[in-house]
Amino acid sequence: MDRATEIRLIKDVLALKARGETQYHDTVQTHSTERYISAQWFAREKSQIFRAQPLAIGAANEVPNPGDYLALDWLDGVSLLMVRGEDNQVRVFANACRHRNARLVANGESGCKKKFVCPYHAWTYGSQGNLVGAPDFERGFPSLDKQNLGLIEFPSRVIGGIVFVHLNRQLQVPHDLLAEEMLSDMRYLDMENQQVYKRRSYVVKANWKILLEGGIEAYHFNVAHKNTLAPFFLGNLSTWQSFGGLYMRMILPKKPILEAPNLPEVQWDMRKMANLIYILSPTVLLLAQPDNISLIRMVPLKAGETRIEEVLLVDGPKDGGDEWSADELKMHETNHNLVNKILMEDWVLGETIQTNMHSGVVSEIHFGRFESALTWLHDEYERVMDINPTMIARQA
Ligand code: FES
Ligand SMILES: [Fe+2]
Repeated sequence: MDRATEIRLIKDVLALKARGETQYHDTVQTHSTERYISAQWFAREKSQIFRAQPLAIGAANEVPNPGDYLALDWLDGVSLLMVRGEDNQVRVFANACRHRNARLVANGESGCKKKFVCPYHAWTYGSQGNLVGAPDFERGFPSLDKQNLGLIEFPSRVIGGIVFVHLNRQLQVPHDLLAEEMLSDMRYLDMENQQVYKRRSYVVKANWKILLEGGIEAYHFNVAHKNTLAPFFLGNLSTWQSFGGLYMRMILPKKPILEAPNLPEVQWDMRKMANLIYILSPTVLLLAQPDNISLIRMVPLKAGETRIEEVLLVDGPKDGGDEWSADELKMHETNHNLVNKILMEDWVLGETIQTNMHSGVVSEIHFGRFESALTWLHDEYERVMDINPTMIARQA
């Protein structure tokens, strides 16, 4: 986000507020609940979205130094091993030994290793995926060539500090995947230099779209987040912009933005005046607050089940040293817990929605005109899913 865009976006919010409006869609949109509960729809999502498109899997700085790694439980039981090689390049491998398929490190595990030693028979891989050793290899496997037994690598690319991977190994992640404005926003967030404070991982029994939807509308703030978010925000007011595919930015203005007209423009600061939300691909959601960025990984496991990982990303220590001060640690810990508390308010609702949808009693849902980002999400979803629109209940 360049400075001119930052000013323009703040002015947009102020103008909407002055008119008592928000960013509307022109009609109400109605959908069948089928797309949230059906195994067939989920299978189609996997073939049309999750295996057909590049997916964001995290921040490159989750593995900041050579040898740093992170193992992720991904779609369809695929375990991904994201590693920064000795050459400083981030790669994504299958976390599976080429001998007999044992997992090299446990899912969720992170750390730093010069070598990955398989826990079964000790085949050993370098940080760039090559097989560098195997006990008694020449005697036991005379017909195999170590050169051909490196870890299976998925096509990946770091763009704007975010790691994108393609589960289809025949395809590449395009270098221009992110729109220029999105790339500029990643620079604005200083994504390349964020550091991991902590992670937290769990499974929510709700469809991934229900969980995303909770992140991109403010209609629920005064109700579902009555005691957490509501006191700081402007109620049902938000603006958003899509960047092609399942990529978007939402601005959720906070009360300090109302002071902007009384301040010289040079003091206008979006990070202080609003929360920023980004959907990337759609497996990563970024929530930028003044002192941190929550990276929320979403891995769809079933139609009604999603693995969530919250990663709190923060600036390095203010004193330029290697460790955060006691005050900084206290602030990060408070923020890490607060984000979780707010998300839980959404996820608990998401689980009740999923259960009710499965019961089949209410078989349609409605997006109001001010839930316009949900309309965008579903329009774009239908486009990438290549769905025949006649299958979908709609009303003007
Ligand atoms: S399965 Fe990995 S060394 Fe045997
Ligand atoms: Fe929410």
